[in-house]
Amino acid sequence: MTPETQVPETRKKVHVKTFGCQMNVADTERMIALMGERGMQSTENPKDADLIIINGCSVREKAVHKAVSFLGEQQILKKQKGEKGPIIALGGCVGQLDKGEVFKRAPYLDFVFGPDAIDQLPELVHKAESGNRHFVQVEFDKTLSYSTQTKVQGSKAQAFVNIMKGCDKYCTYCIVPFTRGREKSRTIREVLDDIADLVSKGVREVTLLGQNVNSFGKGNPNVHGYEPKELHSPIGKVGPRAGEENFPQLLYAIENDPRLEKLKRIRFTSSHPLDFSDELIACYAPKEKGGVSRLARHLHLPVQSGSNRMLTKMGRHHQIETYIAQMRRLKELCPDVGLSTDLIVGFPTESEEEYLETKRLLDEVRYDNIYAFMYSPRPGTRAAKLPDDVPNEVKNRRLNELLAHQLKIAASTYAERVGQTLEVLVEGVAKNQNLIKEGATGRVWTGRTSCNRVVNFIDDSNRNLLGRFLQVKITGSTSLSLSGEWVHDPLYAEQNPTDVAYTSSYSSSEVVQ
Ligand code: SAM
Ligand code: SF4
Ligand code: F3S
Repeated sequence: MTPETQVPETRKKVHVKTFGCQMNVADTERMIALMGERGMQSTENPKDADLIIINGCSVREKAVHKAVSFLGEQQILKKQKGEKGPIIALGGCVGQLDKGEVFKRAPYLDFVFGPDAIDQLPELVHKAESGNRHFVQVEFDKTLSYSTQTKVQGSKAQAFVNIMKGCDKYCTYCIVPFTRGREKSRTIREVLDDIADLVSKGVREVTLLGQNVNSFGKGNPNVHGYEPKELHSPIGKVGPRAGEENFPQLLYAIENDPRLEKLKRIRFTSSHPLDFSDELIACYAPKEKGGVSRLARHLHLPVQSGSNRMLTKMGRHHQIETYIAQMRRLKELCPDVGLSTDLIVGFPTESEEEYLETKRLLDEVRYDNIYAFMYSPRPGTRAAKLPDDVPNEVKNRRLNELLAHQLKIAASTYAERVGQTLEVLVEGVAKNQNLIKEGATGRVWTGRTSCNRVVNFIDDSNRNLLGRFLQVKITGSTSLSLSGEWVHDPLYAEQNPTDVAYTSSYSSSEVVQ
């Protein structure tokens, strides 16, 4: 830390409001950690903050509106506090696209920055502190490689690890390639060292992040001879080329690294069906059949539509039949896998029959969870040139129908778990304490299974269970979560040593997939 970037004593608290996907959540964590290194603490209340950052999402128009309206609400703080008011910055994908136009509407905003400028945040804050205003830092990092180190705040059992950035897919509706730039991957070696450092600090579950992690490794020579050398899918060779690093290699390298023995779960998001290789599916097999034993039994594989004509218009470059075949193969290898997906309804020219093909896909795949959205034209994308011809009320009706249909399916898939004992990583005290009967004592805790189902359970001791892996016998279900009883395991103390006191961090976020 240079003296110039030391935040003055008077500037002590930072509030980051996060909109968008896990990538933005991870970016927020990085911003808070970077400012923490300069002596700032995060606060949940913007009114207490000396620095307010809006980490915005541009994936749909509504998301942009939310960020801009939150920005508008902060104006009053500047007015009330005058010179002593907070520094206000607009970042994330909204910052990247805005490039400073917003100053006309929000002159009280101090600066704008994009996702590639996050590591410069302390300098940007210092610049604003020094009286500079209305500046913009949205240049993409031009280097061909991507190197970073994950920063987490406090002690956590879970961490997001960016393994790549950008997206080269250019689906016709999507703004992300314009906000996050071209794909670049970290090397396997660097990711392993990074995770080893996190594990030494108490992390037991990592989520490997990228817009399309299955193209991880593109352009990075496979100098260490990792296996498998090449990736294949029903459409042929996919992903990075032979001789380059790839995603299944990374999973096997994590599994086999002796420094990572204490890591219990590996998750990843997101993946594209085109690159969802046979070799990645094979990672879900049981260990004795060559699988990656610590890979979570969950897959989020966005499909967007059940109609081949829509998939072509969306520029997805795969057929629905190959997607269904991939799901079947996966379920054969890993019958208890939990599946989730993203869907768009009302894409230009989508007919009622094409929408019904999407609805029927839910019956075919039987997801645990779906993230469904009404199509929202994004300026600058290819689809934005098509007429947005599905009326809003039709989009709305299709969305609600799809969500209601999914709830019925999930009610039965969740009920199938009743009676099983599942391992749960405890994520915190549940917001809803309704499981506690009147007059009873204890607290409801919430966590997730390997297959990504939410499990709530009661504990009447006063122990802090945050970050612990516990066995929970499932006794009840809804279409969104499971409930159960913690099976008090005599080995609990040894399996969950209390040498790490996990902390929960506040998160002021509105997260979408
Ligand atoms: N890279 C991931 C993928 O391809 O699945 C995630 C992309 S995006 C961050 C998350 C989801 O937002 C997409 O999967 C898609 O369903 C939805 N989405 C993206 N652009 C959209 C748009 N213009 N209108 C509505 N939904 C959109
Ligand atoms: Fe957007 Fe995902 Fe398509 Fe990339 S792969 S363009 S992030 S929807
Ligand atoms: Fe939104 Fe950017 Fe993520 S547009 S969904 S925050 S990559």
